[in-house]
Amino acid sequence: MKQLGIDSFSGKRVWIIGASSGIGAACAQALLSKGAKVALSSRRIERLEQIARAVKPEQTLILPVDVTQQQQIQTAYQSIVQAWGGIDLLLFVSGMYVPLRADNFDINTAEQTIDANLLGPMRAVAAVLPNMLSAHAGHIAIVGSVAGYSGLPKALAYGPSKAGIINFCETLYYDLLPQGVSVHMISPGFVATEATAQNDFEMPALITADQAATEILSGIQKGEFDIHFPKRFSGFLKFLRILPYPLYFWIVRRFVKI
Ligand SMILES: NC(=O)c1ccc[n+]([C@@H]2O[C@H](COP(=O)([O-])OP(=O)(O)OC[C@H]3O[C@@H](n4cnc5c(N)ncnc54)[C@H](OP(=O)(O)O)[C@@H]3O)[C@@H](O)[C@H]2O)c1
Repeated sequence: MKQLGIDSFSGKRVWIIGASSGIGAACAQALLSKGAKVALSSRRIERLEQIARAVKPEQTLILPVDVTQQQQIQTAYQSIVQAWGGIDLLLFVSGMYVPLRADNFDINTAEQTIDANLLGPMRAVAAVLPNMLSAHAGHIAIVGSVAGYSGLPKALAYGPSKAGIINFCETLYYDLLPQGVSVHMISPGFVATEATAQNDFEMPALITADQAATEILSGIQKGEFDIHFPKRFSGFLKFLRILPYPLYFWIVRRFVKI
């Protein structure tokens, strides 16, 4: 059994959480230009309004959401249901990254990271699932990261939050495939955004946010579960994780300045 894709985004109702910058903003712009109706969510409303200004008012909804607040997610979803009758695609892009190593490990930052990056998507999925299950239709796409494949330096909280996303998507897939609801697990490599602007090292296989959006939308259209890119980097990391640990750690130490 293969999960469904989306023939055309024209007229589709998409809820993007984390639409104000980077990958989420690029996905929003691409979807709007393909004729989708896009509900834009995140905390920085002025950024969302800027995206919406470029298209007809009926094509967008602006719904402020902090993903750590369950009530805000529920309220935003109810507003979409009232305005558009529901959604065809939940695209959860929002995420935070604070480099953490053993010598600056901070439990408050770790809690915030897990709250935003792992519990955030779970809250959004909890909001949309009942309607998708009763309709036997819909798509849930969540942006994780190749940093979730296996342990990498400087990601003491980010890495576990993204590893959790991989397991969450895999586990959702078992239940949703027979119900007609598609799951798309998205694992980008390095993408040039505000989040990665803080990196003080040369990022291998760096791509633009527009390129990332093209990969994401094309994977969703084809009905892919595992959407990872750019393949030259994500494929290499997929290979690394099947190696025995001594070899894995040796290679990572050689490639990454530790
Ligand atoms: N860039 C990369 O190299 C890369 C690689 C792999 C995976 N990723 C993942 O891709 C996703 C997007 O990252 P990006 O690089 O595009 O970063 P970005 O430009 O910093 O965008 C992050 C987005 O998340 C939103 N956000 C953060 N915390 C939020 C919260 N508590 N509530 C609501 N929205 C929140 C931000 O909106 P507001 O601030 O307006 O709320 C913003 O729209 C993240 O999940 C990231 O982990 C990125």
